[in-house]
Amino acid sequence: MTLAHESHGTGDPPLLLVHGFPFTSGMWRPQIDALSKSRRVIAPDLPGFGRTPGAAKSMDAYAAGLRELLDELSVQRVILTGFSMGGYVAFAFLRLYAERVAGLILADTKAAADTDEQKQGRYAMAERAQSEGKQIVIAAMLPRLVTPATLADRPGVVQAVRDVEAGATLEGIVGALTAMAERPSSLGDLPRIAVPTLIIVGADDPITPPADAEQMASAIPNADLVTIPNAAHITTLEQPEAVTAAIKDWLANHTF
Ligand code: MLT
Repeated sequence: MTLAHESHGTGDPPLLLVHGFPFTSGMWRPQIDALSKSRRVIAPDLPGFGRTPGAAKSMDAYAAGLRELLDELSVQRVILTGFSMGGYVAFAFLRLYAERVAGLILADTKAAADTDEQKQGRYAMAERAQSEGKQIVIAAMLPRLVTPATLADRPGVVQAVRDVEAGATLEGIVGALTAMAERPSSLGDLPRIAVPTLIIVGADDPITPPADAEQMASAIPNADLVTIPNAAHITTLEQPEAVTAAIKDWLANHTF
């Protein structure tokens, strides 16, 4: 199945921006607009999110969809950029298609698998979403996506987050919850990551906290870590300029 996507700008290797859960490529809007001025940016919607129909139930299936998209676009290598669940997809992509990855950006994500308790929470959430509707997932997550200050004082940011979440379908949400629950640990892969890697994390991210980012940064051989102040999980929308600047600076200091 072809993934719906946006592609803007020129310059190789392109950035492939992979969204998190329960979002769409729209969570990268500020970065797509800013970074495509100097490099090609490709931002797909994973199955069941945004304009891509269907669903997938494993990280390998999401990764295979991305590889098909790159083949269709005749793009050989990318700077693979994964936010949160998109980072879990990036680890699967690296296991399967490492030769297609020229550089890696891991934003607000982690390498560890779910604990048994977290897995059970995912399946309970999937059941509730099926019986009560997808809104319950969105409502449960919102307070952890942005800081309390943003929730109280920046209604435009909160609305942007809600708008992006609205693009998730129930089928996509249930598939992603299964894929996240069943994903393997990627901790053992970290020392073998051979490409320049940028790790970004919100200073107040309660979902994938700075300790997870530090763990990845110390295990990946060529990694830089940038912590974004005044941000919880969805750094790309809560502190868009800081995230864009971190990516721009890192791109300027590396060759791919
Ligand atoms: C995401 O933002 O993709 C999810 O919150 C990640 C997760 O729940 O592990």
